[in-house]
Amino acid sequence: MRKAIYAGTFDPITLGHLDVILRGARIFDELTVAVAADSGKNPLFTPEERAGLIRKCTAEIANVKVETFSGLLVEYARRAKVNVIVRGLRTVSDFEYEMQMALTNRRLAEDIETIFMMPKQDYSYVSSTNVRQIAELGGCLRSFVPEPVAEAMETKLNS
Ligand code: COA
Repeated sequence: MRKAIYAGTFDPITLGHLDVILRGARIFDELTVAVAADSGKNPLFTPEERAGLIRKCTAEIANVKVETFSGLLVEYARRAKVNVIVRGLRTVSDFEYEMQMALTNRRLAEDIETIFMMPKQDYSYVSSTNVRQIAELGGCLRSFVPEPVAEAMETKLNS
């Protein structure tokens, strides 16, 4: 069985992430979307809230699982017995950072391979940060995130 982990902060999941998930789910028999508790960011949603939103958005994709993890990604992958990490590559500017992370992860765990997938061009400029900013400033989120995420952001920011 070919398994892979698509790891990220997902604060929140966007249509760009979902596009990578759909592509990954076509290639792998099982794709685990792994929500990092320790990504060095200061997230709006808790890891459980982020995972819950991803579950809602991927409920129809049978071979996708969603989990949260703390600590190093490669250690989590080892515990899960998965040796492929999927990352999205949106633009050339993502490349340097992604290469650094892939090579660092390789140094930490030679047996784990990182592969890159390009989301649809329409989503190449979308990031979780700009989605959060649009939400905070009252803009329309519907072209950037799935409906359950738009609703959750509105609820969170109005509470
Ligand atoms: N569609 C939309 N946005 C996308 C995207 C896509 N297809 N692909 C990437 N992005 C965005 C993300 O939303 C994120 O936006 P943000 O910075 O506004 O939040 C950004 O691009 C990517 O951020 P980045 O920091 O590269 O990745 P991440 O936050 O998604 O995930 C982890 C980073 C969690 C994988 C990494 O921090 C990690 O592995 N942490 C665990 C600890 C560890 O092992 N550290 C050592 C790593 S070498």
